[in-house]
Amino acid sequence: MERPETVAELTAALRQGGYLADRGLATALFVAIGLRRPVLLEGEVGVGKTEVAKVLASISGRRLIRLQCYEGIDTSQALYEWDYARQMLHIRALSEQQIADPDAVDKLFGPKFLVERPLLDAVRTGDGAVLLIDEVDRADDEFEAFLLEVLSDFQLSIPEIGTIKAESPPLVVLTSNRTRELHDALKRRCLYHWIGYPAAEREVEIVLLKEPGIGEALTRKVVAAVNRMRELDLAKPPGVAETIDWARTLSFLGEADLDAAVARDTLGAVIKERDDLDLVLDSLADITSGA
Ligand SMILES: Nc1ncnc2c1ncn2[C@@H]1O[C@H](COP(=O)(O)OP(=O)(O)OP(=O)(O)O)[C@@H](O)[C@H]1O
Ligand SMILES: [Mg+2]
Repeated sequence: MERPETVAELTAALRQGGYLADRGLATALFVAIGLRRPVLLEGEVGVGKTEVAKVLASISGRRLIRLQCYEGIDTSQALYEWDYARQMLHIRALSEQQIADPDAVDKLFGPKFLVERPLLDAVRTGDGAVLLIDEVDRADDEFEAFLLEVLSDFQLSIPEIGTIKAESPPLVVLTSNRTRELHDALKRRCLYHWIGYPAAEREVEIVLLKEPGIGEALTRKVVAAVNRMRELDLAKPPGVAETIDWARTLSFLGEADLDAAVARDTLGAVIKERDDLDLVLDSLADITSGA
């Protein structure tokens, strides 16, 4: 499926690829593909922001190019870098006479010694790629401004090599956990979609899709328990990833039911903070009291 004809067609293709998208998300992606606009997915932790980009790439036959953002990321990690070590080795291998040749230096800054990073790769690949710019909120302001530039014309200039422009832009998916506000300018470039926790029914469906071995009744209980936990004032509320993990853990242990005792022994699959653990343990009976 290169370009879906309808939202329903895209939804079905995503499902085939193992991703259950609600209508809002599928519509945002459908429009992003059709209008060649980047899409910004914000949401809680572990609700499927990264996964949807991966599945989108696989169902559309595009290559996934991932730029993982982090504090302090700069253009040499995002765009390109010169392979300094190879350049040095190359120089050493040259004879005196070769070094005197003015072209020798130019060659050192040619394609052979260029290390391509995700953004350059994406600009070169163009429409054949899904560019996932993951957790953009972790990068700093400066990097965001630079990204904005790249996203506006998909053109990069490398002083030693020249300008490279994408014939047609890649499909761009940005994700953010909202650890800080992104700038309006970046948001304005993008279509925006918020991914919240799925409704209980949908989450049951997701778990069964990922972990078919686990029974439906137990899955319902797990989902109900996770939803109760989300209502507590936890520092790290469990995402869909944790629900799946918990179900997988119970299934691995061969548990057929989820009561307070079983939950206590397996909480590590869902709760990853000491203080959260205390809160949850306090109301474990309540949490596991059934669907
Ligand atoms: N709608 C969904 N359909 C299928 N799988 C889903 C869905 N939502 C979440 N998942 C599963 O949940 C897990 C977590 O998803 P993912 O890593 O994409 O979350 P995220 O939003 O990127 O989280 P983080 O904020 O931690 O990066 C994945 O294993 C994914 O398969
Ligand atoms: Mg992610």
